[in-house]
Amino acid sequence: MNLFVKNISQLVTVVSRGSRMKTGSQMRDLGIVTDAGVLCREGKIAWVGSMREWNQTLPDDVAEIDAAGKVALPGFVDSHTHMMFVGSRHHEFALRSQGATYQQIAERGGGIMSTVRGVRLASKRELKRPAAKFLTDMMKHGTTTVEIKSGYGLDKDSEIKMLEAINELKNEEMMTVVPTFLGAHAVPPEHIQDKSAYVRLIIEELLPYIGRKHLAEFCDVFCERGYYDIVEAERLLEEGRRWGMAPKVHADELTALGGAELAAKVGATSADHLEHVTDQGVHALRDAGVVATLLPGVSFFLNHGYAPARRLIDSGVPVAIASDFNPGSCMSFSMPMMMTIACTQMGMTPEEALTAATLNGAAALGMSSTLGSIEVGKNADLVIADIPDYTFLAYHFGINHISIIVKNGTILEF
Ligand code: NIG
Ligand code: FE
Repeated sequence: MNLFVKNISQLVTVVSRGSRMKTGSQMRDLGIVTDAGVLCREGKIAWVGSMREWNQTLPDDVAEIDAAGKVALPGFVDSHTHMMFVGSRHHEFALRSQGATYQQIAERGGGIMSTVRGVRLASKRELKRPAAKFLTDMMKHGTTTVEIKSGYGLDKDSEIKMLEAINELKNEEMMTVVPTFLGAHAVPPEHIQDKSAYVRLIIEELLPYIGRKHLAEFCDVFCERGYYDIVEAERLLEEGRRWGMAPKVHADELTALGGAELAAKVGATSADHLEHVTDQGVHALRDAGVVATLLPGVSFFLNHGYAPARRLIDSGVPVAIASDFNPGSCMSFSMPMMMTIACTQMGMTPEEALTAATLNGAAALGMSSTLGSIEVGKNADLVIADIPDYTFLAYHFGINHISIIVKNGTILEF
């Protein structure tokens, strides 16, 4: 289908000017066009400009939407989620509200392991059902691309079951889905006395299977005290790469273990979390051009410190933001909510937050040549918000402003 979006009061293109990701002051350049139009042809963006420059007559096969009084922007790219799970952890939320910490709950057998127990028992169908509903709701909130991690299986069959379910959703749903293998998310209870046996299982059995079947684009590791140390993480990421999976790292979330430096060393596509990144880590990320994916919702939801967004941006590190949507540390997939937190708690400007949630999010998935900005030749993934200015996305928080979703040039009806 072909589509012309006309009379857009404010078009936020997030113009990339040919670069794969934005750093420093570029993150504040949104490439805004007022009273604009966007032509989508065969799923791609074919024309972008001011309505004054529009002088073509539209052929009959082109649908039209009038976006007068509205803002159009690229669909959000949520580059870090754990959104495939069954059940919930609302009891832990209640415990945390009474003072228990995330780590204390995990030490008592809750946390990630409680979701693992549910996922191991679930069939593939039971895994897909809630995830498909989440994907629809995420779309309604403006997200058009989402990364989904495994990591709630932690044994061979359950990790493969998760990845197969994620890949089926990728083929069946409108959302662009990017699967990531996170077998090293926690140490499974049956291997608690001998973690190295589980690391061997990942290296000798899981990675070769996943690689041969092309079940994941990325290999991620939770590099943290009590989980996987730097040496284990490096080995897992290098083995993952051998099987065609690009590295990602859960880095420096709870302690300054050196996950950022590791991400730089292995040439990871992104280093995520970074609440405790050191200056050395910041410089290593900048020098290696690794995207720093910050997860504002986690710090907000767990009430722990925020990643040093200002220091990262001002040092020239490309910064993305993502939801980390999961039942334990962030039960929200609202990218505008993440932008609000980034602005109010992390010192990011609304412009930086928007770039971080679109183009730099796409870069965190190695997909910014086709996604993340509204430019000729890119995929026609754009959303229309019923607001007078893009700032309202973060400023008028806690409600959904997205009224129209265009995915691959098609208007989605829910
Ligand atoms: O990114 N840090 C590790 N993993 C997730 C939390 C997953 C969970 O609690 O279920 C995170 O915050
Ligand atoms: Fe995570």
